Amino acid sequence: MNILAIETSCDETAAAVLHASNSSFNLLSNVVSSQIKIHARFGGVVPEVAARKQIEMVIPVIADVVEKSGLNLTRDINYIAATQGPGLVTALNIGLETAKTLAFVTQKPLIAVNHLAGHTLASLLLPDMNPKKISFPALALVVSGGHTLLILMKNFHNWKIIGDTLDDAVGEAYDKTAQILNLGYPGGPVIDKLALIGDSSIFKLPRPLLNNQNFNFSFSGLKTAVLYLINDLTAASPTKKLSTQTINNICAAFQAACVEVLVTKTLRAIKKYTPQTFLLGGGVSANQALRSTLQEKIRLTAPKTKIFLPAIKFTGDNAAMIAVAAYFKILKKQFADIKKITTNPHLAL
Ligand code: KG4
Ligand code: ZN
Repeated sequence: MNILAIETSCDETAAAVLHASNSSFNLLSNVVSSQIKIHARFGGVVPEVAARKQIEMVIPVIADVVEKSGLNLTRDINYIAATQGPGLVTALNIGLETAKTLAFVTQKPLIAVNHLAGHTLASLLLPDMNPKKISFPALALVVSGGHTLLILMKNFHNWKIIGDTLDDAVGEAYDKTAQILNLGYPGGPVIDKLALIGDSSIFKLPRPLLNNQNFNFSFSGLKTAVLYLINDLTAASPTKKLSTQTINNICAAFQAACVEVLVTKTLRAIKKYTPQTFLLGGGVSANQALRSTLQEKIRLTAPKTKIFLPAIKFTGDNAAMIAVAAYFKILKKQFADIKKITTNPHLAL
C-alpha cells in the first residue's frame, strides 16, 4: 500500500510517501520544510507565525513529495494520513484540514495519527528494518520538545505510558537553558555540541527525581538550577559575560544531568518489565551522549534487549514517521470520519 502523510504539528511542514507492507517499509519520498530560522529570531516558536508559514508551505511540500515519489496522487496513493495532535492547534489544523480535503476529493480513507506514535515508531524507517524485527514487549523512550515518555508496548496497538514528565519536557529544558545562556534556538543541537568540549565535573547540577522509584521525570528544576548557577557566577559583576569555557562546562554539566536521569529511569524500567526491544524517538534522540550512553548501558545490563535508535534525520519532526504510525492504524481499519475529525492539541497517546 502507498500512504501519503502530512505533519504540521509545530514549526516543520512535512510530507512523505511510504510504500508499506508487513515485510518492509520503503520511503519513496520525504520532504521537510523547516521554519527554524524564522523562529530563531524570536528565541522560540511563535504559534501564529508557525501557522501562517504552514499555510504557505503545505501545498508546495505535498506537491513536491508526490512528484518525487514518482506516483500519481489519484491513481497510486491508497491512503492519506495527517497528524491530529498533540502540537500547536493552529499549525495542526493546516495539515489535517488539507488532508481531509485531499481525502474528500480523491475518495481515499483518512488516518488521523498521534504525533507521539510517529516518534515512537521512527526506528522502523531504518534501512533493512521491518515490523517483524520488533519483539514484544517493547519499551520506548520518547524525548521531544513537548514530551518525555516511557512507553510499554505489548504490541503495535496496545501501549501504556509508564513514565511521563511532571513539568517541562527534556527538549524544552534544553531550549530554555540555551536561552538563559544566550545560545539561540533550538537549544538541543548547540548544547549537545558545546557539552562535548566542556568539562561536566566543574559544576554539579541536580538529578531531578533520580531516586524516586517511579518512572516520571521533571526537568524544570534543572533549568532553574542553571539560572541560579549563572547568578552565583556573575554575582560579583552582573554585567560581566561568562567565559566560553564556563559556558561549555555548564552545557556539559546540564547534559550530564539530563542523560543520567533519562538513562537511569530507562534502565530501571528495563529491569522491571524485561522488554525484548528498546526503541528511542523524538527530537532529543539526536543527542549523541544520550544515544551512546543508552546503548552502552542497555548492552551491559540487558544484553538480550534489541536496541533500535532512529536515523538522525528521523529524530526531529517528519511525515515519514507519521506514515509508519498510520500503517498500523490501517491494519486495524482505524479510519477517521472526514466530516467529524478535528485536531486535538493535547491528544493523549
Ligand atoms: O521531536 P521534536 O522535533 O519536536 C517536538 O515534537 O517537540 O523535538 C524538538 C526538540 C527541541 O527541544 C530541540 O532542542 C531538541 O528536540 N533537540 C535536541 C537535539 N536536537 C534537537 N536535544 C538534545 N540534543 C540534540 N542533539
Ligand atoms: Zn515532534
